[in-house]
Amino acid sequence: MKAKIAVLAGDGIGPEIIQEALKVTKAIENKFGHSFTYTEAITGAAAIDAVGDPYPEETHKVCMESDAVLFGAVGHPKFDNDPSASVRPEQGLLRMRKQLGLFANLRPVETFPSLLHKSPLRQDLVDGANFLCIRELTGGIYFGEKGRKDNGNTAFDNCVYTREEIERIVTLAYEYAMKRNKKLTVVDKANVLETSRLWRQIAQEIEPKYPEVETQYMFVDNAAMQIIQWPKNFDVMVTENMFGDILTDEASVITGSLGLLPSASVGLHTSVFEPIHGSYPQATGKNIANPIATILSAAMMFEYAFKLNKEADLIREAVLKSLDSGVVTEDISKENPKSTSDVGDWITQYIANA
Ligand code: IPM
Ligand code: MN
Repeated sequence: MKAKIAVLAGDGIGPEIIQEALKVTKAIENKFGHSFTYTEAITGAAAIDAVGDPYPEETHKVCMESDAVLFGAVGHPKFDNDPSASVRPEQGLLRMRKQLGLFANLRPVETFPSLLHKSPLRQDLVDGANFLCIRELTGGIYFGEKGRKDNGNTAFDNCVYTREEIERIVTLAYEYAMKRNKKLTVVDKANVLETSRLWRQIAQEIEPKYPEVETQYMFVDNAAMQIIQWPKNFDVMVTENMFGDILTDEASVITGSLGLLPSASVGLHTSVFEPIHGSYPQATGKNIANPIATILSAAMMFEYAFKLNKEADLIREAVLKSLDSGVVTEDISKENPKSTSDVGDWITQYIANA
C-alpha cells in the first residue's frame, strides 16, 4: 500500500529513537513491497527554538495531510525548572492531541517472557499480565481553564468533562473489551470528584448495552495499588486523562523498563504513535536510550492506522527475539548493554532475513 507518514522526532532522545523506528518501518516497507513517504516536522523545544512555537501551523498541516504520525518525545530541562516560561515544549504535544481530536490513548501493558526477572514485582505476579489502558486524552484537568489569582498567589486548574467526551471514550473501551477478555475496569475518584461521578453515571448507562462484559468500578488510589499487586486481574481499563497518565507510568514498571511501552492515540483525524516515556534529556546524544517503545509504537501504526497485521506481528516478533537474545540497552542490561542503534540494527536485520 501507499501511505504518508509524518515524523515528529521532538526533543532529547526523540531523534535517536525515531531513527531506529524509521529503520524498522523502512525494512517492513521493503519486505512487503509497500511505498511510504516520510515528512519530517518540528515540535517541542526544538520548535520553540526554531520558530517560537512548540506545534507550528506547518507541523499541524503535515500531520493533517498524513496517514499516520510517528512521534518521538518532547520536553527539555531548561523549561522544567522555569515555572514562569510562557511557552513550553509539552504544550506542543497537548495542542497536537487536541487539534487532531485524539481523544483516546491506547496503552497496552504486556510483559516479555525474557524480562520477567527484571520486573521489581514477583515473577509469578507479572508472568502473563496483559492489559490495555485506555486513557482519555483531550479533556479533564489537562485542558480546563487554568490560571493564577491573588497577585499570583493562588493557582487553579479546572477539571471539566462533558457527557459527549465520556460517552465516546467509555463506548470505545467497551468495544475493546469485547475484542479482548470482556472485562472492563472503570477507574475514577467518584467518592470525591464531580467529574468522576459523571463518568460513573455515564458508564453505568452504557454498561447494559454490553451484557457480556463484566464491568468493575474502581477508585484510582485503589487501582494504583491493585495494578502492582494483581496486574493479571486487569483486561481493559478506562480512565480520565491525568489518572491514565500516572497509572500507565506505574504500570510500565511491571514490564521491567519504562522504555518498552508503546501507545496509539486515535480519534477524529490522523492517529499518532508514540512511546509512553519522555524525552530522557540526560541520555540525549549518547546512543543509550531504549528504542523498543518507539519501535513497538511503529508496530501499532501498522496495526491501527494501516490495518497491516502481518507487518505489525513481524515487528513484535523481531522485538521479542532481540530481548530473548539479550540484544538490549543499558536500562535492561547493565552488564552487557548494546547501543540504541545496535538494537535497531538487530531488529531491522531480523526483519530483512525473516
Ligand atoms: C505522556 C506524557 C505527556 C502527558 C507530557 C509530556 C505532556 O507524560 O504522554 O504520558 O502528560 O500526557
Ligand atoms: Mn506521561
